[in-house]
Amino acid sequence: MNKCILITGGTKGIGYAIAEILAKSGYNLLLTFGADQQQAITVQAELRGKYAVKVEVLQADISEKSSIDKIASFLDADDIHPFSVVFNAGLTCRTPFEQMTLEEWERVFFANVHFPVFLLQRICGKLQSGGNVVFTGSLMGEYAHSVSLAYGVTKSAVHSLVKNLVKFMQPYRIRVNAVAPGFVDTEWQKNKPAEIRKSIESKIALGRFCSPEELSEIYKLIIENNYFNGEVITMSGGYSFR
Ligand SMILES: NC(=O)c1ccc[n+]([C@@H]2O[C@H](COP(=O)([O-])OP(=O)(O)OC[C@H]3O[C@@H](n4cnc5c(N)ncnc54)[C@H](OP(=O)(O)O)[C@@H]3O)[C@@H](O)[C@H]2O)c1
Repeated sequence: MNKCILITGGTKGIGYAIAEILAKSGYNLLLTFGADQQQAITVQAELRGKYAVKVEVLQADISEKSSIDKIASFLDADDIHPFSVVFNAGLTCRTPFEQMTLEEWERVFFANVHFPVFLLQRICGKLQSGGNVVFTGSLMGEYAHSVSLAYGVTKSAVHSLVKNLVKFMQPYRIRVNAVAPGFVDTEWQKNKPAEIRKSIESKIALGRFCSPEELSEIYKLIIENNYFNGEVITMSGGYSFR
């Protein structure tokens, strides 16, 4: 297969699980990451060793404007025309509302909303016609978030972006969708105190967090099924139905 998929935040958690399921199916990968270079190198070697695919890794912090240019230039230099872009990396800010600064608010907005919009603006002409874009939204874009106002609002914006971008990507024959996960067992969640995890589990009908691997199957389906367009697929295990 000669298709390349770009995944932001593709070296850990949800992004890594997406990378692995796609590598297994023969896709080449460009995985970006924020700070953990050692992890990126390990993941690159592991995926290259297990599957006969090309895997490139690139440090590109989604809170920095320069990363847009860095990713676009990398695609140009290697003449890569991605079949799919998975805007997966995201940031939060847990500073209480009363103390939150404008800079913190702007950082989350830049990373979760501005960054994918302006990277897509820059590279949409390079994507393979018939390809697609997938965002990682969040169940917290549907429900009010009790901790981070900026996170909840930006993930709602991501869901809205999906619907609106469909019209702007139609001339390029690019589909646009999102997955809105509930609670997924990644470092992001594992770092939470045990009592908070228990309280979350008690609200999920299935009584447990989602594994990154079961979530990744939805991304593969969206990437490969040519009739998904403008959809935000929630995967919550039945959150709030308990
Ligand atoms: N876990 C959940 O329950 C859950 C639920 C709903 C939505 N989500 C969303 O899912 C996405 C991934 O979350 P996750 O749980 O898989 O997180 P994770 O396990 O912490 O993995 C995060 C990945 O993103 C990269 N990353 C982090 N900060 C970055 C930055 N500033 N610039 C570029 N890359 C950065 C990390 O690379 P480095 O470590 O090298 O920085 C890593 O590859 C996020 O958009 C999150 O909002 C998660």
